[in-house]
Amino acid sequence: LEFLKEKILSNGQAIDEHILKVDSFLNHQVEPLLMQKIGKEFALHFLKEKITKVATIESSGIAPALFTALELNVPLVILKKQPSKILNNDFCQTEVKSFTKGNTYNLTVSKKYINSNDHVLFIDDFLAYGEAALGALRLFEKLSAKPCGIGIVIEKSFQPGRTKLNELNIPIYSLAKIKKMTKGNIIFND
Ligand code: G4P
Repeated sequence: LEFLKEKILSNGQAIDEHILKVDSFLNHQVEPLLMQKIGKEFALHFLKEKITKVATIESSGIAPALFTALELNVPLVILKKQPSKILNNDFCQTEVKSFTKGNTYNLTVSKKYINSNDHVLFIDDFLAYGEAALGALRLFEKLSAKPCGIGIVIEKSFQPGRTKLNELNIPIYSLAKIKKMTKGNIIFND
């Protein structure tokens, strides 16, 4: 997706071989027009999947996921990293170990918002080691919902997430795929 690649090249910053800083448009300051274009692109790509819910993980996935949900005219469900006291016992949970952040959290969702009738599209800002996405998919499985697609804004193809997700046979659409990074330099796959 050319507009996103251009944005990454002009405003992103490879701080080392592993981490791309995108604070100015994606995960600290957020550019609504860019998010809207991203939402339209995901919605168009997954239109035939008859999506009933878009899901993401708090917090940086919310902006692109919300615009996708808006385009598809379905609700957005935000998977929580911390269980809320108001969820009572009516929730589903799975443990996620983040390699990127070096922490562990309980990914949580209320059973009220995703169920066996749902066709779910999972959207996230980054695909790195893929543990967050795998955690989300475990939740959908526990809830007997059908995962119909995975939409990623920036895939770091040199990290193992993509290979792990490929094994699941769920359609994956990454808008920008990064092949390699060095400090100050970003190379895309295509
Ligand atoms: P992983 O730990 O298995 O790698 O999971 P995932 O690929 O989902 O990445 C975990 C977290 O690290 C995510 O944030 C993701 O946005 C962030 N992340 C991964 N690679 C990069 C990167 O190159 N640059 C930046 N800026 N972030 C990256 P999160 O846990 O969802 O937290 P939040 O920041 O969205 O609140």
